[in-house]
Amino acid sequence: MKVLSVVGARPQFVKLAPIAEAFAATDHEHVIVHTGQHYDKNMSDVFFADLRIPAPDVHMGIGSGSHGVQTGAMLAAMDAVLDEHKPDWVLVYGDTNSTLAGALSAVKMHLPVAHLEAGLRSFNRRMPEEHNRVLTDHASDILLAPTQVAMDHLANEGLKDKSRLVGDVMTDVCFRVRDAVQDKPLDLPFKQGEYLVATIHRPDNTDDPEILAGIVEGLANVGRPVVLLAHPRLVAKCAEHGIKLERPDGSLHVREPLAYPEMVQAVIGSAGVVTDSGGLQKEAFLLGRVCTTLRPETEWVETVESGWNVLTSDVSKLPELAARTAPTGERPMPYGDGHAAGRVVATLAE
Ligand code: UD1
Repeated sequence: MKVLSVVGARPQFVKLAPIAEAFAATDHEHVIVHTGQHYDKNMSDVFFADLRIPAPDVHMGIGSGSHGVQTGAMLAAMDAVLDEHKPDWVLVYGDTNSTLAGALSAVKMHLPVAHLEAGLRSFNRRMPEEHNRVLTDHASDILLAPTQVAMDHLANEGLKDKSRLVGDVMTDVCFRVRDAVQDKPLDLPFKQGEYLVATIHRPDNTDDPEILAGIVEGLANVGRPVVLLAHPRLVAKCAEHGIKLERPDGSLHVREPLAYPEMVQAVIGSAGVVTDSGGLQKEAFLLGRVCTTLRPETEWVETVESGWNVLTSDVSKLPELAARTAPTGERPMPYGDGHAAGRVVATLAE
């Protein structure tokens, strides 16, 4: 079997890591295509290096642009790649513009498509990712779902027959890295358990200067030190609108985005997480840290139902929410057993 993975953005490299590892343990051929959606060293290369992912076989170098320009450039470049490799499966990941481009190119060329992390829904059509998810699920031939909730969403949309519950590959990689870095705290000017880890990058939180200024102010006044891992969009939007990230009182410790192992170290050493990232909400949960999510909804509803994650758009609530302690009782494990990638390979082979 020959499988061609299409990736392009940071969260997809994390999901690719356990898949590439699972393929390496078989005789199947695995081709990696990088669209180039993310291109900064710390948004791309470090993930391949740290997570021991083989270098991409094809790098399209598409880069940034409006949704249409970016997705269109990927589509235009994909035909020749698929034509050359003629895979048995095209495997697309998650919900980015690279996902949609990979799926759309493949179906137009009558190549079977598998969607990893299928069935997630925010039911918020303002999010570009929600369109990418829905369109990719409906175009794909097999839907590899991470959770029962995702399976239920797919069934509700008439896609039950194509759906398979494989578990979440992010659990595979998160637990593997956690075990490797457990006793190695990240070098930060704060004590373990004293600080919060924060990331903000969604258009709904960064594009409106008033909302953005409110979030930055809220993070600076949360009552404990905040390690803010600044996505390029956050840095660019703050610069554009004259919003200062560095604070004289040191309340915001601003750093560039971290590589995956350092991110896991940062979360393990923290008192909790404040974010609008889907992946980080779940990593906080998997690593046993409370999370406050600056969004009105989440795809990872299990984190909220179990009390580990609280959604809010009201930054004035941050000091209270960030000071809360972890729920008591046993943490449920709705995200699989850490062996999802093997199931993905087996499902495709079957
Ligand atoms: C994309 C995904 C989002 C995912 C996120 C993870 C879509 C629609 N969105 O959003 O689902 O959560 O990746 O980060 O695909 N930039 C750089 N260097 C880079 C990459 C981006 O400077 O290496 C800047 C550019 O100014 C770019 C902006 O960040 O225009 C946004 O990048 P883009 O890939 O369009 O979207 P993300 O916000 O990263």
